[in-house]
Amino acid sequence: MAEKPTSVWMSISFWKRSAGWVTGVAAALLIWLTFDTIPQMLMGTDEDMQNGVTKRVPSPTVINYKITYEMSEKRGHEVPVIGEKEEFFGRSDYSYDEAFALLNLGKLTVQGKNCMNCHTLLGNGAYYAPDLTKAWLDPRWENVAGKKEEAMAEFLMDPSTYTHSERMMPKLGITADEAKGVVAFLKHMSSIDTNGFPRNFGKIKGAINAR
Ligand code: HEC
Repeated sequence: MAEKPTSVWMSISFWKRSAGWVTGVAAALLIWLTFDTIPQMLMGTDEDMQNGVTKRVPSPTVINYKITYEMSEKRGHEVPVIGEKEEFFGRSDYSYDEAFALLNLGKLTVQGKNCMNCHTLLGNGAYYAPDLTKAWLDPRWENVAGKKEEAMAEFLMDPSTYTHSERMMPKLGITADEAKGVVAFLKHMSSIDTNGFPRNFGKIKGAINAR
């Protein structure tokens, strides 16, 4: 009697070989994507900025410059534009190391005080309080009497000054140095090209969803 032809779908070796190929191709793709993403995530240098090389995450020395956003027709959302020099706490000549140290202090404070418990930073965190990704560009800081960075630092040390919402931020015992670091951290974060995220930040002039 002739053997019954068995369908390929019933063949164990077919499935074993397919599983091997799928795992192999997926692993190769993930490795390639990892290496493709690394240069996009690496922080730029001060030379990049001076030579007009745009990086998604600019050098910490971006705190020496004015940050604005402009609509990009090609990308369909606003993109960061690093402009002319601008004073930050009375200086616009922070070296890479100084700016890096300031950002680091800000980052440690943000982690230590668990700001993410209430706020969102680059998509991570809670929705109890405003998204901080572009807080540096919130026009409320343009309308203060003094300098914007100083007003923000004062607010962080004592949120009852410049309070803006019915929901008040608690006083977290932030020192003047820590506040300066946090403001530097927030200024740098606002310069990161986040592909238009958060979508509705649009508080800045000229943005699609400008309020
Ligand atoms: C218990 C919740 C809570 C925690 C924790 C918290 N905040 Fe807030 N924060 C708020 C609320 C509520 C507001 C809105 C009140 C206002 O703007 O007056 C706010 C507002 C802000 C603003 C103004 C936002 C804007 O668009 O200008 C900044 C900046 C800010 N917080 C930074 C921080 C930082 C940095 C930390 C951590 C060191 C932190 N917050 C921790 C609740 C919190």
